[in-house]
Formats: sequence, C-alpha cells, structure tokens
Amino acid sequence: MDKLEKLSFQQVVKRLERFEFEHFQNYRAMYSSWLGGIVTDPALMVIPVDDHMVHRGDGVFEALKCVRGKIYLLEEHLNRLHTSAEMIQLERPLSQEDLKDAILQTIRASGVSDCVIRLYISRGPGDFSPRPDQSIGSQLYIVITDEKPKSPEKYEKGCLVLTSSIPVKKTFFANVKSCNYLPNVLMKKEAVDAGVDYTISIDEKGFIGEGGTENIGIISQENEFLVPGFDRILRGTTLVRIMDLARELVDQGELKGIRQTGLKPEDAYQAREMLIFGTTTGVLPAVLYDGRTIGTGKPGKFQRLFQKLLTEDMTGNASSLTPVYPV
Ligand SMILES: Cc1ncc(COP(=O)(O)O)c(C=O)c1O
Repeated sequence: MDKLEKLSFQQVVKRLERFEFEHFQNYRAMYSSWLGGIVTDPALMVIPVDDHMVHRGDGVFEALKCVRGKIYLLEEHLNRLHTSAEMIQLERPLSQEDLKDAILQTIRASGVSDCVIRLYISRGPGDFSPRPDQSIGSQLYIVITDEKPKSPEKYEKGCLVLTSSIPVKKTFFANVKSCNYLPNVLMKKEAVDAGVDYTISIDEKGFIGEGGTENIGIISQENEFLVPGFDRILRGTTLVRIMDLARELVDQGELKGIRQTGLKPEDAYQAREMLIFGTTTGVLPAVLYDGRTIGTGKPGKFQRLFQKLLTEDMTGNASSLTPVYPV
C-alpha cells in the first residue's frame, strides 16, 4: 500500500467537492441537528463516526413517503418512532411538533414532491464506548431521497419467497425499529443470494413472522384476510392501514373477515393469495413460497383490490396526508 496521506481540512473539502457517485443523483436533502441545518450536496450528508448510531447501532429510524407533495401516514410513523425511542430510553432531540416542522422544511429545501423521507434519532456523538451516557446528546437526521422506481414485473408476475434461516427477533427487538438491523440485512442478503425476492422469518414454534423489511398476510381459501399477531414482528404502518381499509371489502361481501392469528407456512402454501406489505413496496403478490405455487401462481384479485385501496388513500384521503407545500 502507498504511504497514506495526512489530509488537511481544505484538502478534505476539495475531495468532497469532487465526489460523484451514481446513487448521489437520488439524494436531495439532509437535515442534521449536529450541523444545525440542511445540506443538499450529497457529499455533505454525513454522520460523525463517533455517533453511537454508527458504531453501536444505537438509534431508531423510520422511512415514509411523500406523494405529490403530501406525506402519507406521518402521524403513524412519528408515533412508531416515538415508541421505538421510548423503548430504548432515547431522548428525542425535538418535540413532535418541531420534528414535523423540520421534516416539512427539509422536503421544501429539496424542492421535490415525490420522495422517501428517512428519519433517524441517534444516541449522538461522544466517545466510542457502548455507554449511552457517554454521548453529548441525541441527534436528529432527516434524509430526503427520490423513490427508486419499482419493477412493474413484481406486481404483474408476482414475487418469489423462501423461508428464512435467520433467527427471528424476540418481541422487544421486533418492536423497536432500531438502527441495529443486522438480522433484517441478513434476510435481504439471504434472498439476494438465493435468487428470490424476499425471505420470511419463522419463530421457534414454526409460525410465520415477517420479511426483512416487509409484513406478510394471506387470503385463505375461505376468503379471510389473515395476518400474524404483532408479538414477533414490527407493527407495519402499511399493513395496519390496509387492515383498516379492507373492512370496506368485508362490508361488500368480497372478504369474509380480517383476523390476526398464528400462521404456519402450510397455511400460506394452501392460501388463495399471499401478500407482502411495506411503505416502499405497497402491496406485492407472492406467487411461489418455498417452491410451492400459491393459488393460481399469478397475482390475485385481493392484491389488486388492496393496492387500489392503498393508492386511493395515498392520493385522495386528506386524513392520511400532510401537505408539504402551502397552497
Ligand atoms: C422489520 C419490518 N417489518 C415490516 C415493515 C413494514 O412496515 P411499514 O409498512 O411501516 O413500512 C418494515 C419497514 O421498514 C420493517 O422494517
């Protein structure tokens, strides 16, 4: 290896100015409480290495969407962020109202109307020990990026899923949306390595959990919408919303009912449809699970109906939406 250069502050700034990566094109803005403002140059969207979120995963996060200038399910995501922070006794650097205002200002600074908003509350910089009390104070980072275009094929043809071999989280950790996401990351890696779209966790008793960053549900042969209880999985905002919206389909007689219950892979193998839910995925059909064809092997009626309900809610239901730009 060549002799490593000792860089001056100015040299670093110059190098940062030259940084150009393809993924930078999607990065629009970042608010950092550490810097005390908003940056729009992707090279400046950085976090101090001694922030406990970096070296210990000591932080919590959320990802939510802004569609046509309106944030979808802002309250729900902020409530979950609040719960996650409380569960690990992480002090919030801003009040809920100030946090909302910071989100709106950061999106406005980005100038975009359609984006993904990522919120991080970190334990904060200070020392390199795991001791939370050795940080200067918790920090907030808000990152605005473009949403990556989804492959229409996954909706038209369906997804392939496999049972995961990654140990499932205990109730407490399944319910903190922490920046310590190693099991979830390994599930994604497992899926990529196996050439499938998602892998699905299974608890010690053989019950279905969730995907790496998605919830799972099925439509039984009796047309019931069945979903695992929230004891070993994250309470997904998309799934909770769909369970609410789908009551309309029960009233119309399309669905027989909506119920949370323990589901085994066999229940899914025999299901009419298997569905995947998440903020960036929406409602995706799973058509092959552990090599077994689900239903007809094609996306089904309920995937379409659920996705339609979600899209309508996301674009037309004022009570689920927070406008970013003044009208
Ligand atoms: C582990 C896990 N399960 C489920 C979900 C889906 O939740 P949501 O619908 O709120 O995006 C996520 C979202 O990132 C997740 O991380």
